[in-house]
Amino acid sequence: MNSAPEYFETIRQRAQGRWGQLEADPELAGPWHQLFNQVQSPRHVLSELLQNADDAGASKAAVRVDNGHFIFEHDGEDFTEEQFESLCRFAYSNKRSLHTIGFRGIGFKSTFSLGNCVKLFSPSLSVCFFKKRFTLPDWIPGDSPKSDLTRIQVEIGNENVATDIKKNIDEWLKNPVSLLFFKNVRRMRINDEEVHWGSIGPGPVVNSEWMALNEDVGKEYLLIQSNEEPFPDDALEEIKNERSLTVDNEAEFPPCRVEIVLGAKGHLYVVLPTGVETELPFACNAPFIQDPARLKIKDVEMSPTNCWLLNRIGTLAASAMLQWLNQTDSQTIERAPAYGLLPDVDREKQSLEG
Ligand SMILES: Nc1ncnc2c1ncn2[C@@H]1O[C@H](COP(=O)(O)OP(=O)(O)OP(=O)(O)O)[C@@H](O)[C@H]1O
Ligand SMILES: [Mg+2]
Repeated sequence: MNSAPEYFETIRQRAQGRWGQLEADPELAGPWHQLFNQVQSPRHVLSELLQNADDAGASKAAVRVDNGHFIFEHDGEDFTEEQFESLCRFAYSNKRSLHTIGFRGIGFKSTFSLGNCVKLFSPSLSVCFFKKRFTLPDWIPGDSPKSDLTRIQVEIGNENVATDIKKNIDEWLKNPVSLLFFKNVRRMRINDEEVHWGSIGPGPVVNSEWMALNEDVGKEYLLIQSNEEPFPDDALEEIKNERSLTVDNEAEFPPCRVEIVLGAKGHLYVVLPTGVETELPFACNAPFIQDPARLKIKDVEMSPTNCWLLNRIGTLAASAMLQWLNQTDSQTIERAPAYGLLPDVDREKQSLEG
């Protein structure tokens, strides 16, 4: 028989109290449900779970749809009390690093788009959450599947959802660029297939590396990273405003880097792909501030952080190109691909993508 950790009951009661308050005051509950509904999209589930797995230090993750159940597993650290507490709240994150999005405390809630009941098993936890009161954990008594892994399991609600999630899983198989941006997750098993990135040698400029997907050396990708830089003041101000918690220590936002991948399509990533498809000849990854639905990034005009990050990406691409071209001791044919970094874009375009 598995028993709940000591902290479980306190956290459960706190969540229950919050629902009591909310249900007594529809005006208070309205925005909660609205935000909750905004994150209900099956196409975000896998990305969000991977993100959390990466933050938990997982090196491997696996996803499958088995007998009407969505099952996601990873080998990261078990939940601490603080992390579990944060999971049982809404729009409250205990994460600080801005390498990843992981700071709004809503990602996990996207799993309810798959079905009514979300089960979570970890070495110390066996709980389920129901959509109706999505932050209230129920302990699952009885023998839990004993494992060192963390597992999130949802019985899929209906055929449409099943189709959506299968499609999303297939998209990951076809375009696993995000995996390059994770800190820890390097390998992913998708149904019965394995996806991983491997290095095939140092790149032509500093902080760059040639990468191949699943040992396919016929198609090379060049990952170029910037140095880490501290956020400027106006960006810090914006980030603090974006977070629902008050942050009193600015040092808690560590400096961040931006990354580009030559060879991948021009999408903007916040580790995970956003809906912004640019005409740039490389993919860009940075801790952009996103809209709650995570469709795009916050408009550059409104966001000093995004403006600063895009600027850094431009500078990174340009300086990499110049450095590459200036390597006069290597052959012209080795330097010519540097022009691949030169974007052929419409400079008059006023949209976000432009
Ligand atoms: N696999 C996991 N291992 C450990 N802790 C986790 C895991 N998944 C979630 N958590 C905890 O639950 C909290 C809520 O997760 P959730 O994905 O909802 O928000 P977040 O990752 O903090 O921010 P975001 O909205 O950007 O996803 C996290 O802050 C973390 O403390
Ligand atoms: Mg998350």
